[in-house]
Amino acid sequence: MAKIQGFSVKNFGTLKDITMGKLWNTQGKEELTPLTAVIGKNGVGKSTLFDVFGFLSDCLKFGVEEACDMNGRGGFHKMRSQGSNEPIEFHVYYREDYKSRPITYELSIDLDDYERPYVKSERLRQRRAGQDRGRPFSFLLLNEGRGAVWKGELEGLKITNDDFETPIENLLASFSQVESTTTELVELSDKRRLGIAILGTLTEHPRISSFREFIENWYLSYFTPDAARSLPLSGPQKHLNMHGDNLGNVVQYMEREHKTKFQNILNKIANKIPGIEHIDTERTNDGRLLLRFNNKGFQDPFYAQKMSDGTLKVFAYLLLLEDPSPPQFLCIEEPENGLYHKLLETLASEFRQHATGKKGGSQIFVTTHQPYFVDALQPNEVWILDKNDNGFSNIRRASDDGLLVNLVAEGIPLGSLWYSDYLDLKVT
Ligand SMILES: Nc1ncnc2c1ncn2[C@@H]1O[C@H](COP(=O)(O)OP(=O)(O)OP(=O)(O)O)[C@@H](O)[C@H]1O
Ligand SMILES: [Mg+2]
Repeated sequence: MAKIQGFSVKNFGTLKDITMGKLWNTQGKEELTPLTAVIGKNGVGKSTLFDVFGFLSDCLKFGVEEACDMNGRGGFHKMRSQGSNEPIEFHVYYREDYKSRPITYELSIDLDDYERPYVKSERLRQRRAGQDRGRPFSFLLLNEGRGAVWKGELEGLKITNDDFETPIENLLASFSQVESTTTELVELSDKRRLGIAILGTLTEHPRISSFREFIENWYLSYFTPDAARSLPLSGPQKHLNMHGDNLGNVVQYMEREHKTKFQNILNKIANKIPGIEHIDTERTNDGRLLLRFNNKGFQDPFYAQKMSDGTLKVFAYLLLLEDPSPPQFLCIEEPENGLYHKLLETLASEFRQHATGKKGGSQIFVTTHQPYFVDALQPNEVWILDKNDNGFSNIRRASDDGLLVNLVAEGIPLGSLWYSDYLDLKVT
């Protein structure tokens, strides 16, 4: 399973400059844990942080201009940190699996002369085999739509001055003097599309393709119980979609493809939802499949359309975790909404078990307001967002506070420390 070890964001709304986990040039930092939770007061930037992943995923699918206007973002001007004229920037440091060398993806989005958002620069790089230190080698380098790409799976562009701070245009200038049969100069016809979206479809660029596929595979949950209540008309579908309105189709798929396993999954889920004794399915005359929940104390089952919001939500999350080929990266904003507080610790441990499981579950990233959820977590899994004096967000890892780590080691749950305002005390 691929894993994001760290990432940084610049000039994205209230996230003017934040870094989480480890990057290629901060190897001493601890990488992100398989389950990561971000907490913080209202307005500190949790939804904005969640949207970093949503925005990247939309940029890949629709291009940067459309992505800026989508999903309530309101366009580039509203998205860029107020007072800044710098590009919006993202760095993602990830590895394909535990054996592979990490890859860094760098993306910079700015306004062109006509005030339209476009991809200013884009870069992918990776260290060579056996190279533990030093600068990684670029294998995709684009500036203003022009650049170079290195075919194949090994090494990268042999550029002198491949320095983190050196502007890409300078690197490209030095590159044009290098001759190589495996490198290729490229020019994109549309500067609003990501290079990885275009080049990632070509078989000669397997590393770019796998990074593109990694982002395409992200699951960002915008689950709403009402959407999940819709009666599916179309056929079976393999994966739950972002809004959860194909829950019934996924149930059809699971029943058709993994009949026995699916009933076991339903039994397992029923055990975890208080008040539910049994879950099964019923086929209607017109071929649809209805989910039936047997509530304690009632003889007749209730159908999903009549189930409570919280029950449907937990059901959908647990089903998502049981997906035979789960997404590599799963992002959920405030999973606690609508859930009874006692259920939250269960949900948090289910998430952790899945994320750290031997089967190689998804990496899970959540934002939360709920101390009960945080009670089930360790300090290195929890990040605290707050605002600095300039009005922009700061982020810190709970495990950077030694005293707090000791308190948790002594058995005080992290959520209760947060609840009693301990986490608001800044580490100095
Ligand atoms: N372009 C911008 N530059 C700087 N700050 C911005 C910009 N756009 C929005 N903001 C600020 O960012 C914050 C929005 O944060 P966000 O919605 O991510 O908070 P949150 O942590 O999700 O809050 P809640 O817990 O209420 O959902 C607000 O304080 C808003 O004023
Ligand atoms: Mg929010």
